[in-house]
Amino acid sequence: MTLIEQLQQLRQIIDQESSQLASAEDAEAFRLRHLVKKGTIQACVEQLRSVPKEQKPEVGKLLNEVRALADKAYEQAHDRYASASSVERIDVTLQGRGPQIGAVHPITQTVDRLVDIFASMGFDVAEGPDVEDDAHNFEHLNFAPDHPARDMQDTFFVDAPGRSDVLLRTHTSSVQVRVMQSMKPPIRCIMPGRVYRNEAVSARSLAEFHQIEGLYIDRGVSMADLKGTIMAFARRFYDANAEFRFRTSYFPFTEPSCEIDMSCFLCKGEGCRICKHSGWLEICGAGMVHPNVLRACGIDPDEYSGFAFGFGVERVVLMLTGIDDIRLLYENDVRVNGQFAP
Ligand code: PHE
Repeated sequence: MTLIEQLQQLRQIIDQESSQLASAEDAEAFRLRHLVKKGTIQACVEQLRSVPKEQKPEVGKLLNEVRALADKAYEQAHDRYASASSVERIDVTLQGRGPQIGAVHPITQTVDRLVDIFASMGFDVAEGPDVEDDAHNFEHLNFAPDHPARDMQDTFFVDAPGRSDVLLRTHTSSVQVRVMQSMKPPIRCIMPGRVYRNEAVSARSLAEFHQIEGLYIDRGVSMADLKGTIMAFARRFYDANAEFRFRTSYFPFTEPSCEIDMSCFLCKGEGCRICKHSGWLEICGAGMVHPNVLRACGIDPDEYSGFAFGFGVERVVLMLTGIDDIRLLYENDVRVNGQFAP
């Protein structure tokens, strides 16, 4: 049989079959018989090569007609039956839904960046327990039992059988004490962690927040080292051209004590919302470790000296992001946190 005869026969078959397609399954069987790579039409296409050249236009035309006939029959049957069929249709051209990917919380991101900078300056990371005792949180830090400075930090006490000195640490300075008790100078550590204070929750303060504290103890450490360290850190973290201001302050565990301000990285000292129009941002409290503290922790103050500094991480996040309500950092709303995905 010539190819022309085969095609004529095939056209008849397709014609007849098309009128009998009565379900989605029929349509699918029809497609598999005629319209796939191993189907009847493709078989004819393959024979086209051996047709004499002068017959090719005629045969080609017939082939196209048969194919168009089969395509049309299949499409009509498919449209009619496929949507009513029980087979679920998957539109493979639809765009997929991506998986929801989490992100590192802005507080954790900030702690990580802070730790990276201090680590590159040679500081190790030290950690301590959140539930502390009075000795580590106050006594060894030169807070006398009736010292009024204890009132600076409203403490959550923990009910512990037979003890009245168990509390949630009010600052990470408690880790300073643990580090000094367990290590010999030179000591160069930062101590990130959660701290707790019995304060009314507001847009500016929470009862639970994060601090990072730094401690450097060696022979001959001076206030100049403290200034140099903080300035080098702040110029890397906030603003390479920052200016600084050291204001005297008071902490029981440092003498002298200071608070360190930096020119506002946003307005460069002009005054803006972030610096509350003062041109300055407070970056940390600091000072030279009090000799009483060194002594209480087993370090000879005649041989060693050191500096310490500490600051709240949430305040840093607020400054950097412009978020004006600290509570937003604790509500874990993806609409907020998602904006800080790295
Ligand atoms: N621990 C102090 C606070 O919580 C901060 C501080 C740390 C100040 C180290 C000086 C030196 O307020």
